Amino acid sequence: LTAALGARSIVLVGLMGSGKTSTGRRLAHRLGLGFVDADAEIETAAGMSIADIFARHGEPYFRDGERRVMARLLDAGPRVIATGGGAFLNEETRARIARRGISVWLKADPDVLWRRVRKRSHRPLLHGPDPETTLRTLLEQRYPVYARADITVMSHEGPQEATVEEMISGIE
Ligand code: S3P
Repeated sequence: LTAALGARSIVLVGLMGSGKTSTGRRLAHRLGLGFVDADAEIETAAGMSIADIFARHGEPYFRDGERRVMARLLDAGPRVIATGGGAFLNEETRARIARRGISVWLKADPDVLWRRVRKRSHRPLLHGPDPETTLRTLLEQRYPVYARADITVMSHEGPQEATVEEMISGIE
């Protein structure tokens, strides 16, 4: 599989709480590839947390940084990349992923997502008065875009080994 990947990365997309970071880490380990979390890269590049970037500079500034960080990560060769939930919505990023990677949508039921993101302190998009509705609205808006990923894998509650194996057979 890693030989077939060549220089392409495996890029996990999907909503907050779908498990991109935790499953991505496992997948990378299983395949002997490096792992990188795009949100963490953005925080390092900006020298502040994502919540602070949103608060001080606003979402458009964050999105621009996200687009640049994604370009750099995708150009850096084969790895497993966990993206922030909004990264795949950007057309330029999607085109670059199509050239440099294989996209995997980690799909999850709304209830599963909500249970995972209830403790939402570090997720500025969920800081409003009714975060559960916000999450469901995002889900409805974004599902048609996530559905354009090369592969879709369901993220269930519980151990993620099965999800990782499903990803591998989907990519092969
Ligand atoms: C966002 C998701 C977050 C983070 C930012 C915006 C989104 O990443 O990039 O808060 O637009 O869905 P996770 O999906 O890793 O929580």
